Amino acid sequence: MSSQSKPIILFNRQEIRATVSRLAVEITKDYHDRHPVLISVLKGSFMFMADLIRLLDFPLEVDFIRLSSYGRSRQTSGKVGVMQGFRSLIKGRDVLVVEDIVDTGLTTSFLMDYLRQKNPASLRLCSLTDKPSRRQVPVQIDYLGFTVPDKFLVGYGLDWDENFRNLPDICYVEVEEKC
Ligand code: IMP
Repeated sequence: MSSQSKPIILFNRQEIRATVSRLAVEITKDYHDRHPVLISVLKGSFMFMADLIRLLDFPLEVDFIRLSSYGRSRQTSGKVGVMQGFRSLIKGRDVLVVEDIVDTGLTTSFLMDYLRQKNPASLRLCSLTDKPSRRQVPVQIDYLGFTVPDKFLVGYGLDWDENFRNLPDICYVEVEEKC
């Protein structure tokens, strides 16, 4: 059992817009002539992906992948699997993974290894947020939005037990875990 408080804003919509614009400039510089495949990790990164690609004014493809997630607990099970694969052929393509958060790093590390086995021409990671204080395995983030404290984030696509994804700001909730 767990309970949570009212969401408190960590980064508001104006700060998010400015950060997504900055990332779009960095990504455009590197990918404008490479026709990349952007792979959004569902569900948490759908809002970030939608805002990001609207600022990328060059040919690209989008795809989606769904991995196992936290469910009701704050702790990751450590076991990651592909629940729903993407459809793009990525062999020889420039692939950019679009994530919502790198927390322990287990999910992203699994995904990058999984994609690397498919022999892309290049493979990079763009993450909206990074929570380095909880890292268990190293992950290289090539394009980073925000470094965040050890709080449970919700909003702008991120959820607590499927709630709060629709909040337009990045917020946090004080999560109290009870057994
Ligand atoms: P990791 O494997 O611990 O890095 O976490 C991967 C996934 O856990 C993320 O893609 C999120 O779906 C979820 N997650 C981790 N931290 C948070 C958080 O603070 N809020 C919401 N979801 C989170």
